[in-house]
Amino acid sequence: MLSFDDDFTPPDQQKADTLAAKPAQPIAQPVQPVQTQQAPAHVMTQAQTIAQPQAAPQATIPAKPQTEPQQVNSISFVPEEAPGAGVTGVEAINFNAKRLRVDDKRIINCRADLNQLVPFKYEWAWKKYMDSCANHWMPQEISMARDIALWKDPNGLSDDERMIVKRNLGFFSTADSLVANNLVLAIYRHITNPECRQYLLRQSFEEAVHTHAYQYVIESLGLDEGEIFNMYREVPCIHNKDAFELQFTQELADPNFHTGTPETDQRFLRNLIGYYGIMEGLFFYVGFVQMLSFGRQNKMTGASEQFQYILRDESMHLNFGVDLINQIRAENPHLWTPEFEKEIVDLFDEGLELEYQYAVDTMPRGVLGLNSSMFSEYLRFIANRRMKQIGLPGKYDSAKNPFPWMSEMLDLKKEKNFFETRVIDYQTGGALSWE
Ligand SMILES: [Fe+2]
Ligand SMILES: [Fe+2]
Repeated sequence: MLSFDDDFTPPDQQKADTLAAKPAQPIAQPVQPVQTQQAPAHVMTQAQTIAQPQAAPQATIPAKPQTEPQQVNSISFVPEEAPGAGVTGVEAINFNAKRLRVDDKRIINCRADLNQLVPFKYEWAWKKYMDSCANHWMPQEISMARDIALWKDPNGLSDDERMIVKRNLGFFSTADSLVANNLVLAIYRHITNPECRQYLLRQSFEEAVHTHAYQYVIESLGLDEGEIFNMYREVPCIHNKDAFELQFTQELADPNFHTGTPETDQRFLRNLIGYYGIMEGLFFYVGFVQMLSFGRQNKMTGASEQFQYILRDESMHLNFGVDLINQIRAENPHLWTPEFEKEIVDLFDEGLELEYQYAVDTMPRGVLGLNSSMFSEYLRFIANRRMKQIGLPGKYDSAKNPFPWMSEMLDLKKEKNFFETRVIDYQTGGALSWE
């Protein structure tokens, strides 16, 4: 068993300087689109009397597949160029193939048909999909009128309070796009289970709703959109967190990346832990505490309520990620080596430092009853929970939660008019006109 240093020292100025001096990782490189294996034109090998579906229009296919189309095999769905990897769901439809058995299902490297949702194997994934749908909300439901009045009032907020609002909108407005891109461009094709994919699709939509919420707040307050959305290219503490995450997306978005070997399966796990554990489980929490603290002081109540709904969604994303990671670990125990465990603990430590630097930069002075030193304790507490949730030893067991009220914030009923600001209802399906 590895032993780790239990003493966490909040970053001092020397550490902060080291962090600031660290060469910035390029963030401008676009993520390459995933090239999916195109089904060969001769899909049907039997029952040729059945109308053959039209192949996708050639004009929409960006590039020729790198390998010759595989011959349809009456047993396997697996593309030949990716031995060991699972199917992706776009393989040829193997006519007369045997029916799906629940025991054939696996989270990664599965060779069973991915286009059949049932029979369920991972009930937890389906339940989280259903629970997430039950929590549906949209940003326009929440009135921003009081926020707008407060923001326009020259004496409404201090400069430090205004900076916190803008910095958090700057971080979150692009962070949720990074998360969504990671879902659809990096991890989705490697998750070889339909009920988990169903949740990922729901989560992807929720990330879009979150980006919408930030845009809605930015527009409502009349902020400079360019200034806010470009902060991840201009503000070091934001850039460094996003660059840390983007490295995980880039390696999996490589079309030549396939799971199926211990090394690549560990890289895939590293991505999941990097996003679910560190991005959504750690990098969001200074901002959540700060923005929800406004609401607790009856300031920026609309923005605070938006963040409260987002926190509830993110908590579900995190819980799904924990289940996903632990299930992959259970099905592939050989991946969790001492070296891999140390690599993950080191990632959490790096994440802790980056998030603490974000706390320092967004709160150079005490504000809203908060100060950055409170966050060194809080972040250790949060990181410790995240690590233990995925089976790592507790490194910061002594850390206490200075914000116990945060757990209450998760208890948000949709029917409950939390700040008495709800103004509109959805246009439901029944209200649509087809004429
Ligand atoms: Fe999100
Ligand atoms: Fe999320």
